[in-house]
Amino acid sequence: MRVVMVGAGYVGLVSGACFADFGHSVICVDNDPAKIERLLNGIMPIYEPGLEELVLTNVKAGRLSFDTKLDEALSQAECVFIAVGTPSRRGDGHADLSYVYSAAREIAKSLRNFAVIVTKSTVPVGTGDEVERIIRETRPDADFVVASNPEFLREGAAITDFKRPDRIVIGVEDERGAKVLTELYRPLYLNSAPILITSRRTAELTKYAGNAFLATKITFINEIADLCEEVGANVQEVAKGIGLDHRIGSKFLHAGPGYGGSCFPKDTLALMKTAQDYGTPVRIVETVVAVNEQRKRAMGRKVIAACGGSVRGKSIGILGLTFKPNTDDMRDAPSIAIIASLQDGGGRVRAFDPEGTEQAKGLLSDVEYVEDAYACAEGMDALVLVTEWDVFRALDLGRLKKLMVGDVLVDLRNVYPPTEVLRHGFRYTSVGRL
Ligand code: UDX
Repeated sequence: MRVVMVGAGYVGLVSGACFADFGHSVICVDNDPAKIERLLNGIMPIYEPGLEELVLTNVKAGRLSFDTKLDEALSQAECVFIAVGTPSRRGDGHADLSYVYSAAREIAKSLRNFAVIVTKSTVPVGTGDEVERIIRETRPDADFVVASNPEFLREGAAITDFKRPDRIVIGVEDERGAKVLTELYRPLYLNSAPILITSRRTAELTKYAGNAFLATKITFINEIADLCEEVGANVQEVAKGIGLDHRIGSKFLHAGPGYGGSCFPKDTLALMKTAQDYGTPVRIVETVVAVNEQRKRAMGRKVIAACGGSVRGKSIGILGLTFKPNTDDMRDAPSIAIIASLQDGGGRVRAFDPEGTEQAKGLLSDVEYVEDAYACAEGMDALVLVTEWDVFRALDLGRLKKLMVGDVLVDLRNVYPPTEVLRHGFRYTSVGRL
């Protein structure tokens, strides 16, 4: 099957490479010539485990290529994915659909044969209708169907998530469209992934509802963690105790500094706005958004409290900057708010992140970057683990302690066993326990 992926960003590139790996012929088109040039030279625009190898293998096999021009790519495509960004619109939190609509216009101009146009970007309910209207208006003669096929990829595990999904959701109300898309995903559902064919609007909403539910789960356990600290309970054990109930499930119950990243913050906000527009506010999600925002700042205060109530003139080492491990993504990372509050309080910040330093440099000021965790601890009054990269799990705590001038260790991901940390003479603060 011939597939065109419009947008060679995170979602487009991962999905394009995975479709190619299943044997489809894929062209990823992006209007950023520098990005396409780099991809043609085998340089990935993002860090994602396994992606480079997957891309190079499929390029070599002739199944995956890159282009800046849509026209030629589209000439034979049966399936065209729109995988461009839908950031939060400045000012009102609605998803900014200008890239989606301009992609729709471009696609319309170049359509030749029957094609299924699929929105893969996360788009508010009703966007498919608008994409269809734009294409119809631009090209009244074109033979096409518009479908919705949201992605559920986690950064850092995107290739596995694509290849072994819990489910595939396809919103399409036309038989020809459904046939093309089920054929496209055949390699996956033969691997027993359930394929759910629904209306376009249902598919669009499913994506937002899924992300909002997960964000709610995290926020719920974060609030329970705060309560645990007050009443002397252990949030990890509470999470285990409730998670073993199959109706609840054990995943996404890790208390921490609040969720960040490119999806949850933007999608919860967009769902909230859509619901308000329709006069049916999702009040739980509104609360989740507010609580999570407050939490990121509260984590800064937690570090300050661990340092005895003030960080003025103190040096603090930050382990991990990205919103989660195995990514270089700094979007809405809790580290940004935490570092800002430490700096506002007069603290000096040094940081180490295995992949996120370049992106961090564009977002944070007055931070000294070092090359490993031990250099990050040297001469510090306090050390704060913000992102649970694997390299931080087995650190030599005795060595860290000796390198520091102070003894404060704040573990915002509950990575270390408290007894072990205390044995090395740290004053230890974690989340929802001890
Ligand atoms: C998420 C969804 O999981 C994915 O299905 C969707 O397509 C895109 O958004 P991603 O943003 O890559 O994926 O990250 P995810 O692993 O879901 O984590 C999101 C945030 O929640 C991170 O900041 C993470 O640290 C936090 N988190 C997650 C917790 O604090 N506790 C948890 O138990 C799980």
